[in-house]
Amino acid sequence: MNLLVVCLGNICRSPMAEGALRARLQASPLAGRVQVDSAGTGDWHVGEPPDRRAIACAAGHGVDIAGLQARQLQPGDFERFDWILCADEANLRDAARLATAAQRGRLSLYLPWSGGQSAQAIPDPYTGGKDHFEQVWAMVDQAAQRAVARLLHDADSGIIRP
Ligand code: 4NP
Repeated sequence: MNLLVVCLGNICRSPMAEGALRARLQASPLAGRVQVDSAGTGDWHVGEPPDRRAIACAAGHGVDIAGLQARQLQPGDFERFDWILCADEANLRDAARLATAAQRGRLSLYLPWSGGQSAQAIPDPYTGGKDHFEQVWAMVDQAAQRAVARLLHDADSGIIRP
């Protein structure tokens, strides 16, 4: 199973979501069975590490995302990943432009896909402050826990193979 989390710049929300999901998967029976990556619909920050505020926020929760490097979402990602999970509606719309009609079935908003949160979108913290990054972390960490539960259920159903 391969999961790709997508936001706009790939320096704030999606690397935080990637780090939280990796950490929750690593601590679960699914360790080693699910690959996680992230990408941005925009190309402004390609090659850069996550925003220093995102790195600091994740580090404060015991997760190291300093080594990640931003990249742009590509049409080939729709072949490589089982799910392309978007932070907000704009990301979903932009990502859909790169996909064939059949591949659009692999696209979803991340929070509704993981389930259990009233918010549909992860708010962009880029122009915000520390509190905004903490709010994003709370959302992506809860989504990561829910995602693990969803994937464990899939594994029990035989959808995920070792
Ligand atoms: P992200 O945040 O999509 O969560 O990585 C942003 C990062 C950079 C920009 C916008 C949002 N930007 O306009 O450069």
